[in-house]
This record gives sequence, C-alpha cells and structure tokens, in this order.
Amino acid sequence: MSTQSGPKKRVSIHELRRMKDAGEKIAMVTAYDATAARLVAAAGVDVVLVGDSVGMVVQGHDSTLPVTLEQMIYHSAAVRRGLERDGARAHLVGDMPFGSYQASADDGVKAAMRFVAEGGVQAVKLEGGADFVEVIRRIVRAGVPVMGHIGLTPQSVHKMGGYVVQGKDSDKAQQILRDGRALEAAGCYAVVLECIPAELARIVTGQLRIPTIGIGAGPHVDGQVLVFHDLLALDPTFTPKFVKRFAELGAAVQGAVAAYVGEVKARTFPADEHSFHSSSVRLVPVPEDDDREEPQGGVMGAPV
Ligand code: KIV
Repeated sequence: MSTQSGPKKRVSIHELRRMKDAGEKIAMVTAYDATAARLVAAAGVDVVLVGDSVGMVVQGHDSTLPVTLEQMIYHSAAVRRGLERDGARAHLVGDMPFGSYQASADDGVKAAMRFVAEGGVQAVKLEGGADFVEVIRRIVRAGVPVMGHIGLTPQSVHKMGGYVVQGKDSDKAQQILRDGRALEAAGCYAVVLECIPAELARIVTGQLRIPTIGIGAGPHVDGQVLVFHDLLALDPTFTPKFVKRFAELGAAVQGAVAAYVGEVKARTFPADEHSFHSSSVRLVPVPEDDDREEPQGGVMGAPV
C-alpha cells in the first residue's frame, strides 16, 4: 500500500525528455555502492549511473575494459538497494561493459535484461554510434530503454589511440552528429556526449529531440555527468580539464585516517566515551594448560 510518506516517484525517461523540452538541466553522477547512492540521491541528482568507470576508480585498472557483466550487475544491485532504502526519485542507469553487446545483438539483449532483472536498473547505457543501431533497436524492443554514448568512448581506447578529445575536425564532427541522429532514430532516450568541443555539442544538442548529457562537452547540453570520485577529488592526482573538484575529499580522508592512526599510536583513542562498561562482570580464571576446556564454573556476569 502506498502512503504519502512512501517512496517518491522515480524519474522516468519521459521526465528526462520533459526536462529537455522545459530547458531544465539534468544532473547525473556515477555511484557504485549503496552509501554513495544514498548520498548522491539525497543531494538531488536526477540520474545515477553505475558506470563501468568502476573499473578505474574502484578496481584500480587503467581502463574500463576488464569490467565484467557480473560485476556491473553486482554494483547496480547495491546502488538500487541504496536508492530504495530512502525511497529516492533518481533514475538508475547501468553501463553495459565491454564485451557484453559488441559481438551480437542477442548478447546485448540478454545482458540488458539481466541488468534490469538482477541489477534493478531502469535503463542501460552503451557506447558507440551508427554501428550499434541494431543492438540498440533490439534492446529497446525487448522493453529496456537505452542511453547512447558517443564522442570519446573509453571502451574503444585502443582504437582511438588514447583518451583524446573527439570531433575536432569537420569530418569527425560530422560523423558524431550522424551518430547522434542514428542513435535517436534507433530509439535511444538520451545520449552522453563525452569529450567533444563545446561548439559541436551545442549543434548536436540543438539537432536532437532526446536529451544530451555532457562530460567534457561544455555547457550547451541538456545535462551534465561526472564520476563521483572525480567531482569529490578522491584521487587528488587526477586532474583532467573537464573535471571541477567540488570538494577535496581525498585530502580530507587522508587527514582523517592519519588522525586516527596518530590517536591509536598515542593511546588517546578509544577514549572513555567510546568504551562499554559493566559493573556486574565476574569471571573465573581460564586454566592456562588447556584453553579449549570449558571453565567449570562458567562465565559469571553480563557479557562484556
Ligand atoms: O563509466 C562512466 O562513468 C561513464 C561516464 C563517464 C559517462 O560512462
């Protein structure tokens, strides 16, 4: 039974389209666990992405390529539980990892359906342009909304020759616009534009009816996405141009843990207020020659 204080209505693909039409910006951020999901949802994000960036910021790889479907489903389910715990409204998207949809449309449909059934996502995101319209059509036909992702597509890092800005000359920019149109025609409900010139992102955004979500694509898009760890500067050494550090949590975490280490060494933690007490504890000595033997009289008093 739903009550007035029950879960808020989740942001749907239609709501995101309405936001574009109304000129309301969409705020999207990544999360990979329940705690982060609760924090970002409480902060008011519209869309939570369980990104395959988990491979770099959580698993420690130097690319997103080793991330598996099982891992993505595991993280998505954790994020879903976090959102549900507070009845959050945020729209939840799962990132299709490398190898889960490129070989065949059948693979893609099966992976997308598992993402929804086991990971609890409302939609999936996949990287690639016009070459991927078949798998996108099939997934959408199976009932799963698809968010596209063009421009810099990290799963193609080797093809691109590194993490470099895309669409800087007219031919490549034209191809990105064609890709955006192809994704919209194939049924995508939104598209991520990653690391392309702001001028190109503005044109693509103006030509598409579906919302564009930018990362390193300038301000003239319908929404923005950042990686959780990047916007909080959890890794103080990672400083790409497109990231704004909204807090210095890496330094704050290091400082807090150093303070803890210092207090443990100095014996000032735990203090009395962090300790439990019982005045009724009575123990009998444990025989020294055989620790495994039950004490004859048993343990007296309250558990400590
Ligand atoms: O994996 C990810 O976090 C992403 C965003 C950067 C868009 O794809």
